[in-house]
Amino acid sequence: MTHITYIEASGQSTTVDLPDGWNLMQGAITNGIEGILGECGGSCACATCHCYVDEARLSDLPPPSDTERDMLSNAAAERRPNSRLACQIKASPRLEGLMLQLPETQE
Ligand code: FES
Repeated sequence: MTHITYIEASGQSTTVDLPDGWNLMQGAITNGIEGILGECGGSCACATCHCYVDEARLSDLPPPSDTERDMLSNAAAERRPNSRLACQIKASPRLEGLMLQLPETQE
């Protein structure tokens, strides 16, 4: 299990405990986190799971695939150096305590 903290644009912060292997979009939807839509179901085809990863932890994540990079260009909110798609990040012990800031909008 991996603790992940989602910080919504409103400032609301929620920490959930996700089974290893779950993607972070799935974890948000399952736990009723607002600010992530996940319209494509996690197939890296919608960018409605855009999030900003704690910059200090970026090196703990595998780099984004070319498909994820391309899809991030379609994100509704500002793209930043720490932008990622939550559906492409899997919970694992290496990500214990990771914080994700959610953008103001996903569409
Ligand atoms: S849920 Fe569609 S790209 Fe992540």
